[in-house]
Amino acid sequence: ATTGFEVRRVGGRIGAEIVGVDLAAGIEPAIVTEINAALVEHKVLFFREQHLDDAGQTRFASLFGELTGAHPTVPSVDGQPHVLAVNGEEGVRANRWHTDVTFVRTPPKASTLRALVVPPYGGNTLVANAVAAYNDLPTPLREFADKLWAVHTNDYDYADPPVNSVAAERRKVFTSRKYRTAHPVVRVHPESGERGLFIGGFAQRIVGLNASESHDILRLLQSYVTRPENVARWRWSPGDVIFFDNRSTQHYAPDDYGDLPRLLHRVTLAGDVPVGVDG
Ligand code: SIN
Repeated sequence: ATTGFEVRRVGGRIGAEIVGVDLAAGIEPAIVTEINAALVEHKVLFFREQHLDDAGQTRFASLFGELTGAHPTVPSVDGQPHVLAVNGEEGVRANRWHTDVTFVRTPPKASTLRALVVPPYGGNTLVANAVAAYNDLPTPLREFADKLWAVHTNDYDYADPPVNSVAAERRKVFTSRKYRTAHPVVRVHPESGERGLFIGGFAQRIVGLNASESHDILRLLQSYVTRPENVARWRWSPGDVIFFDNRSTQHYAPDDYGDLPRLLHRVTLAGDVPVGVDG
């Protein structure tokens, strides 16, 4: 089993590659604690060319807490109740900044993604540091954001029509049960105590504001999340695993690989009710 590792930072503000661990061989409990601390500090961890199957990915994720089902509305991979296929079908792309499943009362703590098939170019994943974004806000905006709540939902009008019938079908499944949940716009991280912006693609309205005001405020706050300084970009190789903290990040998968195949499997950790600055 792995008994030590090296941390190589990827960006100045987010991301670290974890070198010297073999996730398939198992990890000592003390190392699990250290990896969890690295996750909270760096927000996203990258593990190169691991040799996990679905059961191994599930075992790895479960070292860090209870797992959710694959997804609230999208069925799991056959025989693997915790595994969600991402981009499994042509036309299904996560090219929208978001934090996974924020539309439920207890959004996930973290997600693991494992690359099964990667295109020869493109198809990277971007992860943004929402704590750095909060810290970048000028003081009056920070104080304003501290008081706001946003309604998150999986039921909204996407700006773009589905690219094909597979994507249209997938969207129907995705919205087959509608969720609407209000969360604080500024979330206090339960482990680090850091404050971060907790918005992303499912945050559609600010409580007490109309649609147009909500859009303007969310766009302004979101522009701090997606500043290049706050973003790490991972170029996948098959077998790579990335592990991101959903309490302090957003992610985005650029749709720049045309019809080339790309398949990731996601296993998600259960989280708690987000807490704002007033507790
Ligand atoms: C996701 O949103 O969980 C998938 C990200 C990706 O496709 O890289």
